[in-house]
Amino acid sequence: NNLSAEKQDLAGRKVLISAGPTVEPIDPVRYLSNHSSGKMGYALANAAAKRGAEVTLVSGPTRLTKPAGVKFIQIQAAAELQETMEKNFSKSDIVIMAAAVSDYHVDQVAPQKIKKNGQDLELHLVSNPDILAGLGQIKKGQILVGFAAETENLLANGNKKLQKKNLDLLVLNDVSRTDIGFNAEDNEVRLLRARREPRLIAKSSKDQIANQIFDEILNLA
Ligand code: CTP
Ligand code: CA
Repeated sequence: NNLSAEKQDLAGRKVLISAGPTVEPIDPVRYLSNHSSGKMGYALANAAAKRGAEVTLVSGPTRLTKPAGVKFIQIQAAAELQETMEKNFSKSDIVIMAAAVSDYHVDQVAPQKIKKNGQDLELHLVSNPDILAGLGQIKKGQILVGFAAETENLLANGNKKLQKKNLDLLVLNDVSRTDIGFNAEDNEVRLLRARREPRLIAKSSKDQIANQIFDEILNLA
């Protein structure tokens, strides 16, 4: 599947990537979700495939085209994403959680469409498990990469996540800026590793950022 002139430095590596939002149902016609476009995760999947990796992309609903030459698994809720990631984890060499996972799900999903009755409605939200932290607990030689979306205290919050989730690499996003990140074409990130100075990847396309992330991953191994 590869006719490009790209260097094949990920040949033989099994790369598992999550991307996009999760969708938590409220009733048969309503849901909770977020503004993740999936672009960063898809750019990672495309970059890895071009560099010769065997890629599995686990994705929430997005408007993007499925990358060519990639095994694609569609998911909706965080619970389904967790099941899929855990099932594919042990056979993977590099695992990247770029999905914007909902931190909560609705406690009791209504079996029928909820009818309005002129009163206020309260939804009880229950914490979702931290999928990435769970993978950090069971990893055996996999390179585990997480993202962090932060609006303040970027480095402190990023380093906390790096450590707490037992990650090899954390990609730090400043989501207070609207010119980069979440829904934008471009991104600017900091790559955090334990006991290293953060590395700034200056604003560039998500494809270029994706390739820099894999360069850094290959430096780890
Ligand atoms: N993540 C996950 N499972 C969750 C929540 C987040 O696997 N239930 C992953 C994301 O895919 C991302 C990383 O954890 O790689 C950080 O997500 P982020 O939302 O920035 O951090 P949280 O740990 O959820 O903390 P908070 O939202 O409170 O900042
Ligand atoms: Ca979160």
